[in-house]
Amino acid sequence: MELLEEGKKYFIEVYRRFPIDVEKGMGVYLYDKNGTCYLDFLAGIAVNALGYNHPAIHSAIKKQLNRNLHLSNYFLQDIQLELAKKLIELTPFEKLFFTNSGTEAIEGLLKVVKKWGNLHDKQEIIAFEGSFHGRSLGALSITIQEKYQKSYRPLLPNVKIVPFNDVEAFEKTVHKKTAAVFYEGITGEGGIHPVSSHMFAAMQRAREKYDILLIADEIQTGVGRTGSFYYFEQTEVVPDGIATAKGLGGGLPLGAFIVNRKLSNLLDPGEHGTTYGGNPLACAAGLATVNVVSRKSFLHDVQQKGNYLESKLYDISSEFSDVVSEVRGRGLMRGLEVRKDALKIMQQAFKEGLIFNIAGGNTLRFVPPLIVSYDEIDEAYEKLRQTFLHLFR
Ligand SMILES: Cc1ncc(COP(=O)(O)O)c(C=O)c1O
Repeated sequence: MELLEEGKKYFIEVYRRFPIDVEKGMGVYLYDKNGTCYLDFLAGIAVNALGYNHPAIHSAIKKQLNRNLHLSNYFLQDIQLELAKKLIELTPFEKLFFTNSGTEAIEGLLKVVKKWGNLHDKQEIIAFEGSFHGRSLGALSITIQEKYQKSYRPLLPNVKIVPFNDVEAFEKTVHKKTAAVFYEGITGEGGIHPVSSHMFAAMQRAREKYDILLIADEIQTGVGRTGSFYYFEQTEVVPDGIATAKGLGGGLPLGAFIVNRKLSNLLDPGEHGTTYGGNPLACAAGLATVNVVSRKSFLHDVQQKGNYLESKLYDISSEFSDVVSEVRGRGLMRGLEVRKDALKIMQQAFKEGLIFNIAGGNTLRFVPPLIVSYDEIDEAYEKLRQTFLHLFR
């Protein structure tokens, strides 16, 4: 708390932070300076796939620390190559580009789409209402939420907006001048809404009819979060390219855009670049993370634990049917939409020792570390139930 007060003097105030002075994290728990412990179902906003202090990540970082911290992309290091190979093996894609963040991965894809579109006389991009693709100006242009865009217009031109899962509106908007559709298979920041099978079918039809690119933002849904390595493996559409970040670096800043053959040789030397992207330390942590998460048994466990978390959220929903309006999500990316003040619920849950946040205004978002145990899911359920009892009974 003292930190927060002092911080107000120095930081531009764009964050609503939890009132806690964190000392350390361990597994699925955060500890404050007084030793109070919190069950963390926010996990660095769906980043800490293997939780805090995972031994595989620690030893990978230590090993790289003794070699070098940063080389720049004038050099290629084995650790970067190993991670790139692994990601290409795990996907149907052909080549990738490493970035520092999610928004930078989206920016790269926007450039790929623009170049491809210019070559094919296609200038329009379709994005869905409620989407979130990042905060840099290109990514913000396809982030269709008034609260994020309103102060920064004009943004990129030629972005066409389609209401979420509205097939009819999509079919009226897409045409031969459409270069690409950007979508999150399940919205993260927008409130854990899955794209419907009808919408996926419509996107696939449009791709066949008009030769458009389908670009999946897997920044939140990827790296095991939904029970497959990437969420598109569970959908009707194999995209032409994806953006990935968050869990990819195991807690260090790392993202990538990964594309299929159609797009893999489009950018010429010097047309794109980054100083830090694919930093060897981040790649070491990333490789350790991906090696664990990509195991079949690990992903199977995520599915099972995700189903268990869902069943516990349904228990809350039946007991408090006056409060909960919907349970949504897949794997360990779940949302509980409420009719009451979501912020109040989040703050009370924090007092009970459970951390999560709010997405889409009225949805409690649960994205625990993928290593969460059944007992820890039970503990989260108990804390959430106590929160609801305290507030609503
Ligand atoms: C789906 C999605 N896309 C893009 C981003 C932006 O990623 P970053 O914050 O790493 O720039 C986020 C971050 O929350 C996200 O959830």
